[in-house]
Amino acid sequence: MSRLLVRDIAQLVTPSGNDAPLRGALFGDVTVMEDAYVLTDASRIAAVGRMCDLGPLGDDVEEVDARGRCAIPGLVDCHTHACFAGDRVEEFSLRAAGATYEELHAAGGGILSTVAATRAAGEDALEEAVVRHRGWMEAHGTTTFEAKSGYGLDHDTELASLRAIAGAGGVPTFLGAHSVPPEFEGGDEYIDWLIAEVLPEASTIAEAADVFLERGAFDAAQARRYLEAARERGLELRLHGDQFTEAGAIPLAVELGARSVDHLEATSQDGIRALAKSAVTAVLLPASALFLDRPMPPARALVEAGAAVALATDFNPGSAFCESLPLVCSIACTQLGLSPAQALTACTVNAAHVLDRADRKGRLAPGFDADIVLLDTPDWRYLAYHLGGHVVSGVIAGGTPLH
Ligand code: NIG
Ligand code: FE
Repeated sequence: MSRLLVRDIAQLVTPSGNDAPLRGALFGDVTVMEDAYVLTDASRIAAVGRMCDLGPLGDDVEEVDARGRCAIPGLVDCHTHACFAGDRVEEFSLRAAGATYEELHAAGGGILSTVAATRAAGEDALEEAVVRHRGWMEAHGTTTFEAKSGYGLDHDTELASLRAIAGAGGVPTFLGAHSVPPEFEGGDEYIDWLIAEVLPEASTIAEAADVFLERGAFDAAQARRYLEAARERGLELRLHGDQFTEAGAIPLAVELGARSVDHLEATSQDGIRALAKSAVTAVLLPASALFLDRPMPPARALVEAGAAVALATDFNPGSAFCESLPLVCSIACTQLGLSPAQALTACTVNAAHVLDRADRKGRLAPGFDADIVLLDTPDWRYLAYHLGGHVVSGVIAGGTPLH
């Protein structure tokens, strides 16, 4: 496909300006253009404007009629665990009957049950799983996704997971430090082994390293050792932090210059203040809080303090079996106190920033990747307003319409 004209768009919406991440007064500053068009050239956006300003284009342009529809940037899911086999539907039923996520984890279920299924699957099945999950995400408007390893926890399956993610077009993150696998006595011994035996190869595939810093998983000293070794190998740093308890994730993230700290359901005032003063993005995962019936993260306080905030699904089989960023936007508006414009900003430009892609993802502007989502809605805010609705009616990724 060379040139594509998406024409007669009822409303085109994009985060304003060029900065990333957008925070403070700029967070949620979006430009809305009525009766608009987007012109793409190969995989990039060539022009964006009002239909009344569109000049003659020649006849080599394919057209998409967007009458009555809205256009937003392709959504960016900056936190998923899309590489797994099996499911946790049994555990879901147990939780519905009153068991807690942490109890199931401590009893050897939870993450470790997905580890067993993922180890047994083999690399081809893992790549098929990531491709299947990518299709689910695309149907909800996600054109860029990050995915973590972390359900292998052995040399071969961790590396196979990272290759499967990269092979399916995802941004791979090495989450070797997700849980201590059954072969190891404790976290210290496992972290030593990960750094020596897996990190060297993992760092040639992954863009970032992530750690689950939490009681029952890894403590701050273990997380520090793992993240420092990852940084030495050139990886960006991410942390799962403050999901259930404040165990030092935010101070560590700030000190090490991490790209993000994610979850934050248990974050208190000190953590909010520390994040607001830092360059670390707060990635909020409200679908996970909802799915586990946990408190929502303090989104409004983070925004008001000036922290950079992104939203993601946390798509995984245990704590958030949800691949829909529009649904996450709905939860953000109804439970976190964000506006639709802030929610959109959080899962476009700010999420692209977490993945170090804000120069080409997350905006509808010339030079950006031609990732365009069409909403079959009269107003773009239906993205968050239509709770669980089928709002996405067309997805263009890299200038190519997807089916
Ligand atoms: O982000 N909390 C740690 N990791 C994932 C859940 C993984 C799982 O339950 O399988 C999360 O919620
Ligand atoms: Fe997660």
